[in-house]
Amino acid sequence: MNYVPRDSTEHVRALRAASFGARARAYAEHRPDYPTEAVEWGLEPAGMVKRLLDLAAGTGKLAAMLRAFGSVTAVEPDLDMLAQLRESLPDVAALKGTAEKIPLRNRSMDAVGIGQAFHWFDGEAALDDIARVLRPGGVVLLLWNDDDEAYPWVAEFAALMKSGGGRAYPHRLPSHEAFFPFQRDRFPHVQRRTAHSMVETLATHSHVLISSERERAALLRRARQILASRPQTARGEFDRPIVTTALRAVRR
Ligand SMILES: C[S@@+](CC[C@H](N)C(=O)[O-])C[C@H]1O[C@@H](n2cnc3c(N)ncnc32)[C@H](O)[C@@H]1O
Repeated sequence: MNYVPRDSTEHVRALRAASFGARARAYAEHRPDYPTEAVEWGLEPAGMVKRLLDLAAGTGKLAAMLRAFGSVTAVEPDLDMLAQLRESLPDVAALKGTAEKIPLRNRSMDAVGIGQAFHWFDGEAALDDIARVLRPGGVVLLLWNDDDEAYPWVAEFAALMKSGGGRAYPHRLPSHEAFFPFQRDRFPHVQRRTAHSMVETLATHSHVLISSERERAALLRRARQILASRPQTARGEFDRPIVTTALRAVRR
């Protein structure tokens, strides 16, 4: 891919938001899932949920989990990510669309889940449209997986993961008049990994996807060096400690 100038923030942001489809299969294989407890915590205030939306569904990681609760619709703008989702989850209704213009009827959903994606949206416009498709008493659940940096090797690797930007989840809770105040909780979990899959995961991050071949090769080389130099990750399988941050809010 060509060199992308780093000085036009909005241009780079838009490129990054649209970058994931280039490695949709690797994304599906290597990116972490979410802990069941986080999803249960998010859905709990809605009571009975039958109709669930995975918004910005990507390859369907969250959609796959939401199926345990009811019938799931997935909305995603990237056609390569959608194709991957349709292949692995043929029973999920998968629609092309964005968070700011969700292709669903008013009050047609009991819950909307968003995994690792709210930071790519126009937050205000997206909450307007999420409020529109939710029934009163329905919930919106925002999830982000982050490395648990209490472990030194994880912190070192996480610095590479985050080298294209800061943390994804908002430091201040979102707020919107159509929702009761957002609540936050955190859920530790682990993902069974190898050094190879950690490097493959890094290669699915948007700042790596939009970087030049040279930048990407240098970053991935550095990642391999870090993993090879640590006894925890030098060979075989190991646990990657992750903390999931979950934000939930109820539709008024
Ligand atoms: C990091 S991926 C997360 C995918 C999936 N939710 C998951 O948990 O693995 C971010 C996704 O957000 C999508 N996306 C970016 N901008 C969007 C927007 N404005 N509306 C809806 N989806 C968007 C991307 O195409 C991509 O699939």
